[in-house]
Amino acid sequence: MEPLNIAAPSNLDRKYARKYPELGAGRLPVDDCISQEYYGLEKKYLFKRSWICVARHTEIPNVGDYLVKDIAVLDTSVTVVRGRDKKLRAFHNYCPHRLNKINKPGRGNCKAFICRFHGWTFDLDGRLAHLDNEHLFADFQREKNGLHSIHLEEWEGFVFINIEDKPQETLKEWMGPMYDRFSGYFDGYKLTGHLSVEMACNWKLSIDSQTEAYHAPNLHARTLGEAVSGKENPTSLFHSIDFHGRHMTAATYANPGYIPTPSEIIAGTNASRTLYPASAETLDKLPEGINSGRHRDWIFDLDLVFPNFGIFPSSGYFIAQWFWPEGVNKTRLDVMVYTYEPTTIGDVIAAENTHVHMLDVLREDFSTLEGTQEGMESGVQPAILLCDEEVTVRHTHYVVDQYIRAQRALRP
Ligand code: FES
Ligand SMILES: [Fe+2]
Repeated sequence: MEPLNIAAPSNLDRKYARKYPELGAGRLPVDDCISQEYYGLEKKYLFKRSWICVARHTEIPNVGDYLVKDIAVLDTSVTVVRGRDKKLRAFHNYCPHRLNKINKPGRGNCKAFICRFHGWTFDLDGRLAHLDNEHLFADFQREKNGLHSIHLEEWEGFVFINIEDKPQETLKEWMGPMYDRFSGYFDGYKLTGHLSVEMACNWKLSIDSQTEAYHAPNLHARTLGEAVSGKENPTSLFHSIDFHGRHMTAATYANPGYIPTPSEIIAGTNASRTLYPASAETLDKLPEGINSGRHRDWIFDLDLVFPNFGIFPSSGYFIAQWFWPEGVNKTRLDVMVYTYEPTTIGDVIAAENTHVHMLDVLREDFSTLEGTQEGMESGVQPAILLCDEEVTVRHTHYVVDQYIRAQRALRP
């Protein structure tokens, strides 16, 4: 068996290996996707010490609206609620009395949270508002026994939480150059499609399958193939790949010679927005950070907000995607497709076409995940090969590992 050396120097003139020499060019070991111990490190040092996106603000627009998510990788259940002051707050979803779980996962609207076990009642801001027999508890202070709060910040309408007692960075610091790239882009979009699936694979594999385009002409031959590959670019090479610290952006090519299918023509001509490639009119409306090279032959960017939140912004729609680890080889994928709020029947057709089409593309991506995990667990090969265009895959595993190492050194 060959020795592993992920930082082996490259003797080929490859552009991303030259641009990002710290990532190396050798084989990438599979251990971080199959080791239970490594998954434990990811939970402790990465996810429990990160800003994690949990929702879009439009899911909980009104006073009293709340959503509850069980987040396995954080070992907790979280309630996010809009208070009487319209502010969003997040709490651990466990009652301070005997730690009963208060709300079931899902969404709702309420005036207060009531624990069904003994009836403790909490205001929307988490304060303990009522309990029976208060005088029977020793040294009891009501104000010290509210819901356990979690740090929450919003970015462009996305809700992030951080379960550390004291986050090491603000969300703005955490996002770095990503913070201003999307300025105002998400406004005016409406959720038109949703897909939630559980896959028997490591969470990083689900990111890897969607952050390279080397697979597009083959895996997506029936859905996207000719739209993202053509005479000038038969293997769908990216326009650009940029790493912003731990985050990434890749600009995806669209074939200007692509002839749309009859249904795409109907959807495209009835709608005021083109699906692909981007038109000059739609490109002008994008913030500078999206399709920053202003390529006409562009379909969408692939953005990953470290560690597990993906955004694919296009002109006329965007996809938001959460890669939720649930075990070393178990991942929940939550996909939301957003399109412009339809104002005409034509827009409705275009929006439907976009969301159905995009979910089909993602199902193709998902189709490789369990087989890849199985291959990694088979032991047939201790490492995988990556070409220069798959440097995004290398980056994801590298930054996760770097983050764990740094956090371990900081606070074991
Ligand atoms: S555990 Fe919630 S009221 Fe007792
Ligand atoms: Fe794909």
